Amino acid sequence: MTKSRSRVHQLFTEAYAKGDYTGWFEKLYAEAQGDLDAIPWADRGVNHWLVDWVEKSQLDLQDRRVLVVGCGLGDDAEYLAQLGAKVTAFDLSQTAIDWCHQRFPHSQVNYQAVNLFTAPADWKLNFDLVIEIYTIQALPANIRPNEIDAIGNFVAPNGELLVICRGRNSEDPCENLPFPLTQDELNRFTTTGLTQVSFEDFIDPVESGSPRRFRIVYQR
Ligand SMILES: C[S@@+](CC[C@H](N)C(=O)[O-])C[C@H]1O[C@@H](n2cnc3c(N)ncnc32)[C@H](O)[C@@H]1O
Repeated sequence: MTKSRSRVHQLFTEAYAKGDYTGWFEKLYAEAQGDLDAIPWADRGVNHWLVDWVEKSQLDLQDRRVLVVGCGLGDDAEYLAQLGAKVTAFDLSQTAIDWCHQRFPHSQVNYQAVNLFTAPADWKLNFDLVIEIYTIQALPANIRPNEIDAIGNFVAPNGELLVICRGRNSEDPCENLPFPLTQDELNRFTTTGLTQVSFEDFIDPVESGSPRRFRIVYQR
């Protein structure tokens, strides 16, 4: 395990013992003090599977309202803004949001420190495209239904949701962060009024350890 992953393990184990499932993110970002090596998911660039999807779908994002969930250090949000989208990107960690501003001082992205569970009411049904990459898998199964409902509800009529996450079969073990998702868990998105448009299940050769990956698109 890398140093940053073992620190994550330590932080979330301590936090979970107190029933706190989200507080450790801010702690990790704050401790990092600007060192990208301290953040295990900081890839220093846009997500490969996001770019692949945007290019294959030949999406025209000019002036589209896009929401990036759990934006972390902002690379995916910046990429979408460069394609002409009007991007709002949020993360519950104020330090992560400050870090985005420092990394991209001339950014067109509207970065906000917001907790998914208490997001502004006017975000509901308000975005043409919602991007969820690796946030659901960073939270435990018991709060996933609320998380999925909150994310699904951001999608506007005719809008789309892209989810990229680790995947597993329901009988596979799920003991350590990131907690891979099952198809059943993801099906809950359809209860928020979305229809599943595509479901890809593949081994990710880009990431170390070649994890199993799901990439799903939903539409309202
Ligand atoms: C594993 S990281 C992934 C970050 C980014 N999406 C990426 O792919 O690099 C999960 C992110 O979700 C954020 N997060 C976790 N729970 C959240 C919540 N309830 N509301 C908003 N952001 C949250 C964390 O602070 C963290 O930045």
